[in-house]
Amino acid sequence: MEKGEDSSTFKMGNSAQERGLPYVPDCYVVPPSWQPCDSNSEIVPTIDVSRLNGGDDERRGIVNHGINQNILDDALEVAKGFFELPAKEKKKFMSNDVYAPVRYSTSLKDGLDKIQFWRIFLKHYAHPLHRWIHLWPENPPGYREKMGKFCEEVRKLSIEIMGAITESLGLGRDYLSSRMDENGMQVMAVNCYPPCPGPDAALGLPPHSDYSCITILLQNLAGLKIFDPMAHGGSGRWVVVPQVTGVLKVHIGDHVEVLSNGLYKSVVHKVTLNEENTRISLASLHSLDMNDKMSVPCELVNDENPVRYKESSFNDFLDFLVKNDISQGDRFIDTLRIKD
Ligand code: OGA
Ligand code: NI
Repeated sequence: MEKGEDSSTFKMGNSAQERGLPYVPDCYVVPPSWQPCDSNSEIVPTIDVSRLNGGDDERRGIVNHGINQNILDDALEVAKGFFELPAKEKKKFMSNDVYAPVRYSTSLKDGLDKIQFWRIFLKHYAHPLHRWIHLWPENPPGYREKMGKFCEEVRKLSIEIMGAITESLGLGRDYLSSRMDENGMQVMAVNCYPPCPGPDAALGLPPHSDYSCITILLQNLAGLKIFDPMAHGGSGRWVVVPQVTGVLKVHIGDHVEVLSNGLYKSVVHKVTLNEENTRISLASLHSLDMNDKMSVPCELVNDENPVRYKESSFNDFLDFLVKNDISQGDRFIDTLRIKD
């Protein structure tokens, strides 16, 4: 086997990470500027989500945000179980179609990526659960039940957090709740990053932001890094997201950047690898309905603050994904910006 084989040798079902190759093929090597050993990495602070509801007496203590640890552990367990299934079982879900409601694939856009990423993933829609759950894997046994429970709990949390975000923008807690509650999309990205023999040369995912309103993430091991653009006088730095049992990460996605007319910025993040252990992450992406367009609220627009973004939907993002290359730095949010 030659190190210099081209990407077509590593299509899904046959990728280096699925085969557990003992070396990193050249087509997985990322440019030096993306490489994971940033000497100046720092650690991201933890925010106590339960405090969102501590704002005044009426709200204090009414809602308990804690998702039972068993639900988190069980979801990670069945996710791991899925990736450990025989290839034949996983291949039933193999698809390159970004519009498919359930699909198994590798890297970012399998077969098209100029650089391959050391990632295996299963993506599936999750809301409303009854509409999608029968399409999910039946194996490992308990996958549907345990992942379904996790999805439901995380979704409730997403509505709470979105309420706090719209309230912080002066739009009220319920500004989006009916649009997110009834028809909102929830896409679960179940990611697996096998041990990598050259963790400093390759990445699990390149720097990107999520199109969603927010993404709630559970991981079994550290590996995620986020970019803090304001650090070092604006030159920025990468910050490590530590693994703490029971802690969920919340990412601001492109659609909250639009919703806030740029007051919130979507967070750029990437996934680094390690040589010893398989990393599993569950990224739950929350947004409006497939064709429901997120636009800048008129309440946030005045003479000093013109509309800074075009409206767009989840479906518009999928169209963007088909035509563009995230691994080369293309960002959906950049296509939405209205230039002054
Ligand atoms: C994603 C993502 C991060 C991770 O799926 O969009 O950024 O830690 N995942 O797997
Ligand atoms: Ni992401």
